[in-house]
Amino acid sequence: MTEYTKQEYTKQEDINTLSILETIRSLNKLNDVGMILERTLFEARTLANADAGSIYISKDNSLHFSHVQNDTLFNQRGARAAQQYSNVTIPINNDTIVGHSALTKKIVVIEDAYQLPADAPYHFNPIFDKENNYHTTSILTIPLLSPYDIPVGVIQLINAHDEEDKTTVFSEYSITATSLFANNAAMSIERALMNRKIILRMVKMAALHDPKETGAHVQRVSAFSAEIYQHWAEKKQLPVAKVKYFRDLISLGAMLHDAGKVGISDTILKKPSKLTEEEFTVLKKHTIYGAQLFKNISTELDKMIYEIALHHHEKWNGQGYPGRREQLDTDEEGDTLAGEEIPLAARIVGLADVFDALSSSRCYKEPWEKEKVYEVIHCESGKHFDPELIEVFFEIIDILCAIQQKYQ
Ligand code: C2E
Ligand code: SIN
Ligand code: SIN
Ligand code: FE
Ligand code: FE
Repeated sequence: MTEYTKQEYTKQEDINTLSILETIRSLNKLNDVGMILERTLFEARTLANADAGSIYISKDNSLHFSHVQNDTLFNQRGARAAQQYSNVTIPINNDTIVGHSALTKKIVVIEDAYQLPADAPYHFNPIFDKENNYHTTSILTIPLLSPYDIPVGVIQLINAHDEEDKTTVFSEYSITATSLFANNAAMSIERALMNRKIILRMVKMAALHDPKETGAHVQRVSAFSAEIYQHWAEKKQLPVAKVKYFRDLISLGAMLHDAGKVGISDTILKKPSKLTEEEFTVLKKHTIYGAQLFKNISTELDKMIYEIALHHHEKWNGQGYPGRREQLDTDEEGDTLAGEEIPLAARIVGLADVFDALSSSRCYKEPWEKEKVYEVIHCESGKHFDPELIEVFFEIIDILCAIQQKYQ
């Protein structure tokens, strides 16, 4: 068992930082916090050749479990992704190893989790091992410190492997390399957390529906969309880099799908009963108002948000709204889009949005029973929804349910 401060490990200079730099550069291109965390964990595990690992993010003086990867247990994607949406929090104190690392801001290196010295200030919790029939031996726990030494989170790597894939202790090299990498990752994570906070604040400011519910709704729609896209893209065997990039954009874009509801009066939005035809005609304009907010397209992200905001209520059979338009400020009904004319991201977010609307309570409706929700979505395949996406939807239904549990 050894502990290092940031000063101690950043002194070492005999490290080839080129490959680390390359990874940091690509981290900086990502915008979405979920993507950055997953990537950070993967790269840290690769640097240290660790079988498993997890990442925690600090919030309100606790660590919130955020990602887990484990080559031995979850090489299947379903298991891994459902685990990612579990809801564990750990206090920042000396009870646990991750808590201790965040509290003291020190790297904790453990050779054998089951042979901690009697005077160790923390305990190893064997519950994960027991529940999953796993055996943790070596552990490397690294605080993710911002440039001002504030712990943004903690990364924990489990079971270093040697060349023959046997479990061994973490080497000096891997400790130094992952620590250097972790400092830079902490900056990307902090920036992405701010991005998300700003977006969620924008959504809240719009004071749509119940402000509390709106935050959870957009996070669910965002996570559903990211997972549906990723599974769809993996089935098509699209290049990994492209999938990550698109997933990152759709995660953020999905959060803003209804941003145009700012332009709709509360009398309509909060009406506790069914809208009249006239009211619904007004409400449909939220797609156009949203698109107007992002119509000056200068980045891929702008384009993604624009397409999602404008087209998330189009239907596969061409009976949605608002349809194609050259100009956003006309009242004419455009030709509606159908099939693959509807941008992929809008098709995905449209499905995620309806799934969430049916499953949740709204000012005008009670949540529906799961079975009824599934039945309607299944029935609308080829009518409202892209049949390929409906297939994916039901293949990852366990992941979607885990997301609902997480953002209630
Ligand atoms: P939302 O509540 O987020 O619902 C998104 C979409 O989910 C709806 O798009 C619709 O496709 C689907 N959906 C929601 N609830 C139901 C339902 O009870 N039955 C069925 N079959 N589908 C449902 P849509 O219809 O274009 O509505 C867009 C937005 O307009 C809704 O967003 C909501 O904010 C508002 N809205 C729609 N109908 C009403 C209503 O009767 N009363 C009120 N107050 N608002 C409504
Ligand atoms: C929003 O996206 O701005 C709020 C969405 C909603 O509650 O439907
Ligand atoms: C993708 O290939 O990742 C998306 C392409 C599309 O918009 O169809
Ligand atoms: Fe909408
Ligand atoms: Fe919505």
